[in-house]
Amino acid sequence: MKNILDKLYKDNYLNKEEIIFILDNINSKWESYLFKLARKTLFRTYGNRVFVRGLLEFSNYCRNNCIYCGIRKDNKNVDRYRLSKKEILSSLSESSRLGYNTFVLQSGEDIYYTDEYLEDLIKEIKLKYPEIALTLSIGERSFKSYEKLFKAGTDRFLLRHETANSTIYNNIHPDMDWNRRKGSLYDLKKIGYQTGAGFIVGLPEQTNKVLAEDLLFLKELEPAMVGIGPLIPHPNTPLKKEKIGSPEKTIILIALTRLLLPEALIPVTTALNTIYKYGFESGVLAGGNVIMLNISPNYVRKKYEIYKNKETKDAKELDIFRKRAKKIGFIVDMERGDNLNFRGNKNV
Ligand code: 5AD
Repeated sequence: MKNILDKLYKDNYLNKEEIIFILDNINSKWESYLFKLARKTLFRTYGNRVFVRGLLEFSNYCRNNCIYCGIRKDNKNVDRYRLSKKEILSSLSESSRLGYNTFVLQSGEDIYYTDEYLEDLIKEIKLKYPEIALTLSIGERSFKSYEKLFKAGTDRFLLRHETANSTIYNNIHPDMDWNRRKGSLYDLKKIGYQTGAGFIVGLPEQTNKVLAEDLLFLKELEPAMVGIGPLIPHPNTPLKKEKIGSPEKTIILIALTRLLLPEALIPVTTALNTIYKYGFESGVLAGGNVIMLNISPNYVRKKYEIYKNKETKDAKELDIFRKRAKKIGFIVDMERGDNLNFRGNKNV
């Protein structure tokens, strides 16, 4: 184990067998060692800083039917909502006053928001807040559409690959296709977005071999950001009887990702924080360096329920995380927090 971990630290590379070996055999002693190496790597790249993103969930309409997701099209128990431009701008304005410099606009795949609508919105946001980094997380669109939204001023795009195993991908995403997903991620990179990928831990049929495929896919794609979170079964979805994804395993995968991609921005995800009391601390001490705090208006927060018991705290959250970070020797950084290989909107 030591040889493999040391090699990973030195080369930032592992082959499939080595990843599987780690996942099959790691115990608490080697976990501590792995986390130490991941931390050392993080200190070398971004230092002891945790970047903050403001997450605005602007629509929970979705045309897709991902079998794990609470806002899937066929869930008729969702109270659907769409925020207007005015509501979106007012949420951003409030958060901007609190010091946020990065916003993530997230929604289901909602065709109501056309390219023209979004281009207008993005331009308006960028005119008002020229310094901020704007991230979209709105699912799959055409190359042309991604290009328009980028030209309008979007800096980053989050599109988790969810699982890199094509059979599992196609099984859990009716009417979607792994090759298309992969294509979208490469499109986003090509256009110049700081692109985020990532996967869910604890999907049905997901063995350590499949998780190794996820990590190798990430290594090949080299995204600027990687979100990894445990499955939280939602009662109104086909996966309602599935087990919760393991927080321990999620944290190990965060650490391995930090070592494979030293310069990636890796959030300690809301899902991990929801199911695990010390999710934030453990995630950061294993190489995670981003938190995404919800800035959606209170009257819609409960409705964006991709999984049950999703955290719905308020503005005080920022202070709470400041204190929690400080306790483990980190500081919360409110700047844009670009990937090291990007400056502003330019891929250097
Ligand atoms: N449990 C955990 N993560 C989920 N997501 C959606 N539904 C769930 C769930 N039930 C994740 C997906 C998606 C991201 C926004 O939320 O990975 O990309």
